[in-house]
Amino acid sequence: MDLEKVYGSGPTAVRALKGVSLGFAAGEFSAIMGPSGSGKSTLLHILGALEEPSSGRVVIGGTDLSGLSDKNLTLLRRARMGFVFQFFNLIPTLSAEENVMLPVLISGEGTAKYAERLDELFSLVGLEKRRSHRPDELSGGEQQRVAIARALVRNPDLVLADEPTGNLDSKTGAGVLDLLRESAARYGQTVVMVTHDARAAAVADRVVFLADGKVVDEAREPNADEIFERIRTLESAG
Ligand SMILES: Nc1ncnc2c1ncn2[C@@H]1O[C@H](COP(=O)(O)OP(=O)(O)OP(=O)(O)O)[C@@H](O)[C@H]1O
Ligand SMILES: [Mg+2]
Repeated sequence: MDLEKVYGSGPTAVRALKGVSLGFAAGEFSAIMGPSGSGKSTLLHILGALEEPSSGRVVIGGTDLSGLSDKNLTLLRRARMGFVFQFFNLIPTLSAEENVMLPVLISGEGTAKYAERLDELFSLVGLEKRRSHRPDELSGGEQQRVAIARALVRNPDLVLADEPTGNLDSKTGAGVLDLLRESAARYGQTVVMVTHDARAAAVADRVVFLADGKVVDEAREPNADEIFERIRTLESAG
């Protein structure tokens, strides 16, 4: 990949990514950590084809994204990716169930065959009794779980999550992480999750550490203490 991302040009240009090369194996749960401004969200947006890299390529399941038209990128995003953002981006006038069904409606697929899938998802996120509630009738954690159900509804191959537990208390956050893990395990999804929380990162198969637009460290199946230790080392080195 060797991804570079420069925002702007001239003296105010920001090099957000300075040559990042990473592979994400199918079914693998990766966490991305690093200080504020290190390029985590930028990387996630590029992986999700929401932004184009300044140079380098993203290849997903053998498809080089740089070769695709905007239209085909949109189709690829809809067909194969699910997004969970820190601010849940739910539509306030729609019920929880309608929000979850949104990707299906947008895709133009028939909704009928999703009846069972909806039952399954709402039970997975533990919101069976909240399906007709609007976002403003749900707690923050419940809204986040609706957003996750929405990201998962069409069984994406790739789930991209930017601080999915950022606004949640530790218990609700742990529930959200279990959900992502469970879904990834059950459906063989590749998950890439940005987080500042060492305990959240500890549920991942691997943690990638970014600093100043570069990959500076990587750990396989680390526990939270090891992650804290590595962050401390990186901070004292920087
Ligand atoms: N649209 C943009 N235009 C100009 N600069 C940008 C833009 N988006 C991000 N940047 C810059 O790129 C760098 C990386 O930003 P990014 O959002 O990827 O950081 P991050 O690691 O996600 O940080 P945080 O933990 O605070 O969310 C930052 O220096 C930021 O100011
Ligand atoms: Mg960010």
